[in-house]
Formats: sequence, structure tokens, C-alpha cells
Amino acid sequence: MSTTESIYGKYGDILPQVMEYIATPIKGFNEDAIKSTGHPVYEHLIYRIKSDSSMREKCIRKGFPETSESALKKIHDAIGIRIVTGYVDDIYKIIRYMKSVPSCKVLEEKDYIRNSKPNGYRSYHMILEFTVPFEDVKGDNPGHYYAEIQLRTIAMDSWASLEHELKYKQEIGNEKMIVSELKRVADELASCDVSMQTIRDLIRQN
Ligand code: GTP
Ligand code: MG
Repeated sequence: MSTTESIYGKYGDILPQVMEYIATPIKGFNEDAIKSTGHPVYEHLIYRIKSDSSMREKCIRKGFPETSESALKKIHDAIGIRIVTGYVDDIYKIIRYMKSVPSCKVLEEKDYIRNSKPNGYRSYHMILEFTVPFEDVKGDNPGHYYAEIQLRTIAMDSWASLEHELKYKQEIGNEKMIVSELKRVADELASCDVSMQTIRDLIRQN
């Protein structure tokens, strides 16, 4: 494969359609929640196809050849979906819903909310396999496509954005202090998330 061609090959045109197909029931679940309870289950839903250069870099890092097969079968986050909620309970509500979608199979789950990373990172990650009415890289139709879903609250999301910036800053003074301050803030935000959930439950019971 020449380096000017996308690593996704002809599946580069199918991927956005698969992504929309996967996102549609999640949007439907939110719309149904608004209709039945008056409240959304999430605040934002964003999704992206991993760029050609990031995917090539990941193939190299994992020791896979730079092929469409690696990008779509060996690596599972060509499609990335992030769901940002107002409250922690909503994350688990969405997870229960995703597990009930017939075309969706959970391959991997990491609960960095109950088990936060040492740096304070919190989020719920799932690798999902979807059976979809599109051809996949093996030529199967219905095809099998993977997606990484990250679920987090607004507080967890704002923390992750700031911490992500830190990783890309080369020369940074006081790095140790910043890392430990970020950890402290992550724990404070987690405690605020618990309080916000409690307040919401009190209001909604009335
Ligand atoms: P891969 O082999 O790259 O898939 O790594 P992994 O499966 O060990 O990664 P993990 O599931 O822990 O994280 C995947 C994604 O979550 C990353 O690409 C980030 O978007 C996000 N993430 C994980 N850890 C952190 C973190 O400490 N800080 C921030 N800001 N984001 C994180
Ligand atoms: Mg991963």
C-alpha cells in the first residue's frame, strides 16, 4: 500500500457511515429519556474516526503492519465515541442500555471511575464490537466493526482535557507539583460529582 493512500483503504468511506449507524441508537436513547423523564441522559456525544497518521503511529507502536486489516481488526479504536454526562448515575444507565443493544457485544471494559488511575484520571471505557449492515475488511456483510466508547461526567471531562494538555507540553516547570495538584483536583471533582448526584436525587424525589 502506498503511503499516500489512507490506511483504511476503501473502508475509509464506509467508516463514517458505520459510526453514524452506531451513534444513532445512543441518540435515540437520549431522546426517549427526554420524552419520558424531561431530562437527558447525557450532555454531549462526540465521535471521530482516528486520523490516518494516528492510526499508522499506533500500528507501529503495537508492532502491527500498516494495513487496513490492522487498523480495523487488530486495533479497536478506529471509531471513538465520547459520551459526557451531567451525573455519574447516567454513565451506568447508558452502559446498561448499550449492553441491551442486540448488535453490540462488549469485548473489554475498564471502570476508571470506581478504580481511578494513579494520576486521578476517571472515565468508563468499553471496547464494543458491532454487527452492522456494511462490508468489513474481511469481506463479511453484515460486517463486524469495533468502537471505543468513553463515558465521563462534565467534571471528569474538563479534568481529562487539562491533563491531556500537560502530556504534550515538553518543557514544563514545576511538573511534579502540577501532577500532584492535578491528582488533588481530580479527587475533589470526584467528591463534587458524588454531592451533585445526591442533590439531584433529592430534587427529583420531590
Ligand atoms: P491503547 O493500547 O492505546 O488502546 O491503550 P489502553 O487500552 O491501555 O488505553 P486506555 O483504555 O487506558 O485509554 C484509552 C484512551 O483513554 C486514551 O487514548 C485517552 O483518550 C484516554 N485516557 C486514558 N488514560 C488517560 C489519562 O491518564 N489522561 C487522559 N487525559 N486521558 C486518558
Ligand atoms: Mg485501548
